[in-house]
Formats: sequence, structure tokens, C-alpha cells
Amino acid sequence: MSARSVTVLPDPDALADRAADHFIELAVAAIAARDSAAVALAGGSTPRAMNARLAAPPRRDQLDWTKVRFFFGDERCVPPDHADSNYRMTRETLFAPLGIPDSNVARIRGEDAPQAAASAYDALLESALGAPPIFDIVYLGMGPDGHTASLFPGTIATLASRRYAVANFVPKFNSFRITLTPQVLNAARHVTITAAGAEKADALAAVLNGPRDPDRYPAQLVAPANGELHWFVDAAAAAQLNLPVS
Ligand code: 6PG
Repeated sequence: MSARSVTVLPDPDALADRAADHFIELAVAAIAARDSAAVALAGGSTPRAMNARLAAPPRRDQLDWTKVRFFFGDERCVPPDHADSNYRMTRETLFAPLGIPDSNVARIRGEDAPQAAASAYDALLESALGAPPIFDIVYLGMGPDGHTASLFPGTIATLASRRYAVANFVPKFNSFRITLTPQVLNAARHVTITAAGAEKADALAAVLNGPRDPDRYPAQLVAPANGELHWFVDAAAAAQLNLPVS
């Protein structure tokens, strides 16, 4: 049964601090239990602040980073050095400052044809983490439209849900994105979704408290079957939730 928690932090900096501490806590526990931690990282802009905290003292010294295997929740269909690449953002803010070797990073090949990139990542996930692939932690963000990873409104019905990674055409961008499917998100031991900013308040209230409508609000699809779902949000995003600020 899925357990869900929602933690409201005063501001984006406090959210990044809390999310970074939670990362360390979960990764340390995974390594203690299984001698490794398989983590899928989010893209976009919110993860930058958490990544910076993980890559700096004291947190950088609180974990055996050699035991962490890094994956991605989604990727844009661009080369790895493109300004829009989630890999590039993560390399700059986390992998490079921590000296993470490429061998510990499963990059989605955004430079390849979308279907080929999705198929290759799908096979890699199964080979690395089983069928279905089980992550210790999946990090996600949420857009103002209620999307998460690259599961966008109006694109859910056509997902190849039996697969672990797919190429999803996103009309609003007129482009494909490679994304984990709900099957993988919901097989994870822990899923952490972060959301900050007033522009996300409407979607957050709809996702958490509104009627179930996952094709309109894909973040509602995230409900780990035997894992824990942790929302970390700031007060601006939580304006309609009537929850205490931590
Ligand atoms: C991406 C992310 C996407 C992101 C949300 C929130 O590739 O952009 O996977 O799902 O998490 O759009 O983005 P921000 O953190 O920039 O608000």
C-alpha cells in the first residue's frame, strides 16, 4: 500500500535543504540494506539547488557516492551538451563536483532517434534493475500543468504502459521526450516530488486534493504500490493546501 507524505517548507532554499537531507537519509539506508542505491534524478530547474547542496560539504561527505548508481526520470531529445539536456544540468551541478564516474551514470541518449533512445534505455533499466526495474529513489518535479517526468496532460492514454521507458510526443513542445513510465515510478521504494513557486499552486491542489483525472493531471499517476511517496513543496506552491509550514 502506498504511503504519502506532504512536507511544506517556508521557501525554495529550505525545500532544497530538506530534500538534500532526505536524499542522504534514503541513500544511506539503501546502501546499508543492499550495498547500493539506484536513484533516478529529475530534470528541469528545481533540482539544481538540491544538487548543489549534495555536492557541497557537509552532505558530500555523508555518503559513499561510489555506491550510488544514477539514472534519469526523463530526458529531452537533445545532445548531452545541449542547454536543455537534463544530463548536462545534472553533470554540471552534481556529477562533476562530486567526481561521479561515467560508469555510475546511465544516461538517456537524447541525441539518438527517440524510439531508439527509449528502447535502449528500456533495455538498460531491465538489465540493471530487473523487471520491473526497482529504484531505491525516484526524484520527480511537477510542472504548472500537473505533468511529472515527461508524462504530460493528454498524452497518457497513448503510453506503452507495459514498457519501462518510452518516447512520448509532447504537443506543447512539438517534440518527443524520453520518460519513465508510471509502471516504473510506482515500483520504486521511494518517490520524492518537489514543487516550488506560486505558479504550481493550482496544479498541486488539483493533484493532491482534486478529483482523480490523471490524463489531465499526470502527477496523480504517482502512487508507489509498495513504496513511499514524499512531496516536498514550498509555501507558495502549497498556498491552497491548508497545511502547516515545517
Ligand atoms: C523536465 C522534468 C520535468 C520537470 C518539471 C518541473 O525534464 O523538465 O523532468 O518533469 O520536473 O517540468 O520543472 P521545474 O523544476 O523547472 O519547475
